[in-house]
Amino acid sequence: MKQKNIFIKTFGCQMNEYDSNRIYDNVSKLGFKKTEDQSNVECYILNTCHIRDKAKEKVYHEIGRVKKLYRGKKKPIMVVAGCVAQAENEEMLKREPYIDIVIGPQSYHKINDLLKKHELNSKQEETEFDTISKFGYFDKIKNNNSKISAFLTIQEGCDKFCHFCVVPYTRGPEYSRPFNNIIQEAEQLIENGAKEITLLGQNVNAYSYVENSKEFKISNLINYLNQYSELDRIRYTTSHPRDMTDDLIDCYSNNKKLMPFVHLPIQSGSDKMLQLMNRKHTVNDYIKIYEKLKKINKDIEFSSDFIIGYPGETQKDFEDTFELIEKIKFINSFSFIFSPRPGTKASNLKLIDKKIAKDRLIAIQDKLFNNQIELNKSLENTTMEVLVENKLEKQDKYFGRNKFLSPVIFDGSEEDIGKIVNIKIKTSNQNTLFGFYDKNMRAA
Ligand code: SAM
Ligand code: SF4
Ligand code: F3S
Repeated sequence: MKQKNIFIKTFGCQMNEYDSNRIYDNVSKLGFKKTEDQSNVECYILNTCHIRDKAKEKVYHEIGRVKKLYRGKKKPIMVVAGCVAQAENEEMLKREPYIDIVIGPQSYHKINDLLKKHELNSKQEETEFDTISKFGYFDKIKNNNSKISAFLTIQEGCDKFCHFCVVPYTRGPEYSRPFNNIIQEAEQLIENGAKEITLLGQNVNAYSYVENSKEFKISNLINYLNQYSELDRIRYTTSHPRDMTDDLIDCYSNNKKLMPFVHLPIQSGSDKMLQLMNRKHTVNDYIKIYEKLKKINKDIEFSSDFIIGYPGETQKDFEDTFELIEKIKFINSFSFIFSPRPGTKASNLKLIDKKIAKDRLIAIQDKLFNNQIELNKSLENTTMEVLVENKLEKQDKYFGRNKFLSPVIFDGSEEDIGKIVNIKIKTSNQNTLFGFYDKNMRAA
């Protein structure tokens, strides 16, 4: 089979990263080989995200860039995948003749057929929600991802319909993959060398798979994965406060491989705003989860997502969010100004003043960044366990993460890639810890 080059550019969340890897596992059957050289490929895939801002415009901008790269050369097959493809579908083909294929996230099992048909039928669009067939197809294809820290999608879609969010429209209804198929894929990843697996889903803790009247939940998956001696760490993201059930909370007392770091988006510290957003939980529900987890292990750290300047947000609502951040010292959190998304309930609401929203975002980010800097400072001169992931490009330094997912850069050695080592932290900045290890202190 003639080898052809492919470049996949990925935007958005970890689920898109997982999808890009699986798309590659699939298209490699047609002889496509990944390259880092964007300007010399037979197929170019943009795996897009629709969550905020001018997502659609960004895609057309990217295509403009690719067009320039290929001026005077044979154009690649241009594929737009991901959430913008789902939201915009055939409109994209009409607006931009450079695009050949538009494919939504629940149709990736059809990509090889579309690529094969490309010569005969030049413009194609595939945006059915066909999640069961997609996973049924991919379950038969080996996951070749050989990263030390690997993603594994267990659940897709969302039935919660927060008023600001496009995900229920771009990923479709909630679907949970069969338990055994997930375990089989986890075994492939472990065989490929994964030491850490992050279970993924738009509502990962809503995972629920029923077989012979027995329900399997995410807690069952975590406890099952705990048995694999070659696997060191288990994580999951993104979870929703409503699905933070006691069986999952109990995993933090029974399961040593489950990392003591919980990414649990709250969006706002004001009950009024949570109701306007249709979040279906209160601030108090959230604090109760926080307290239960802290009672199990006081060292568990939390991170969250915040939407600032949602329509109707008053200074008091904003101060409530600020207060929550003083109470829960979130680390590694994300905060964004509300971005109206076409087709969502909040898209037509009256926006608050731009300058006020921006000032609030700056204030909240200052607070979150300060929490992070303080935590990182407090870790200087301490020794911590780090899973070594890779060597940095063009530097004689190594990269890994601590239990709280914080990046750690240190003087390491090739032989420790894939191992957990003890690193003594010397300095830090807001995002990263810097240190070295003493071979005599190796942890595992
Ligand atoms: N399912 C997760 C949950 O319920 O929190 C969130 C998934 S969403 C892909 C990731 C984050 O994007 C959200 O937590 C929210 O903070 C942010 N987000 C989603 N829609 C947004 C919008 N219209 N404007 C600003 N931020 C948004
Ligand atoms: Fe979006 Fe809300 Fe669903 Fe999360 S729970 S994916 S924020 S609609
Ligand atoms: Fe973006 Fe779709 Fe993920 S909108 S955040 S790529 S689910």
